[in-house]
Amino acid sequence: MIEEFFHLKNGKVVYIREARVEDADRLHAFYKLVTSETEYLITCPDEVLSPSEERALIRIYENLFNRLYIVVFRGSDVIATLKIAGARRKRLSHSGELSIAVKRNYWGQGIGKKIMEEALSWAQGVLSRVELNVVDSNERAIALYEKMGFKLEGIKKKAVKLSDGYHDIYLMAKLF
Ligand SMILES: CC(C)(COP(=O)(O)OP(=O)(O)OC[C@H]1O[C@@H](n2cnc3c(N)ncnc32)[C@H](O)[C@@H]1OP(=O)(O)O)[C@@H](O)C(=O)NCCC(=O)NCCS
Repeated sequence: MIEEFFHLKNGKVVYIREARVEDADRLHAFYKLVTSETEYLITCPDEVLSPSEERALIRIYENLFNRLYIVVFRGSDVIATLKIAGARRKRLSHSGELSIAVKRNYWGQGIGKKIMEEALSWAQGVLSRVELNVVDSNERAIALYEKMGFKLEGIKKKAVKLSDGYHDIYLMAKLF
């Protein structure tokens, strides 16, 4: 069970724990905001899950052994999330896909690194592989993933279209 307080680089304290069904409305508001702050999340603001879909998703995460959903709070506001979605089919269930988002005005405060460390320490006991997709120009995210031991496995050419044109997507993975 992940639940702890964490000091940001600027000295402020945030609270980290696993998602609960009652967080759904605040998570919905968080995703609406962060998807409007960066194109690197790929999802557009109008594609964000509704609060009821978010509630259903949290229940799935609570009930599957190979899924993890971390939420970071500053007061009652959600400021970051990290999910590892373990695959459902038995022959793939040792593998999970990681996604991470931090609210823009909290970037560079150590939150991304902290929740990656928490997630990978959880994954070590549960999974043999964690993979992720990242846009080629997302230097901040790629630096974080490399620091955490993720290796480039492949490049999906012209995989996403952002406002400045097509980009490749890097498939990165960490094995345990
Ligand atoms: C990518 C993201 C998760 C990183 O989270 P963060 O809380 O800003 O990251 P941290 O403050 O923990 O920094 C982690 C590492 O990123 C790197 N980093 C930080 N700022 C950077 C910058 N301006 N340029 C390049 N790398 C940078 C550093 O290696 C840093 O490690 P260090 O603190 O030991 O030097 C966050 O910026 C984010 O949510 N971005 C938008 C959404 C996104 O891109 N999600 C990932 C999609 S694949």
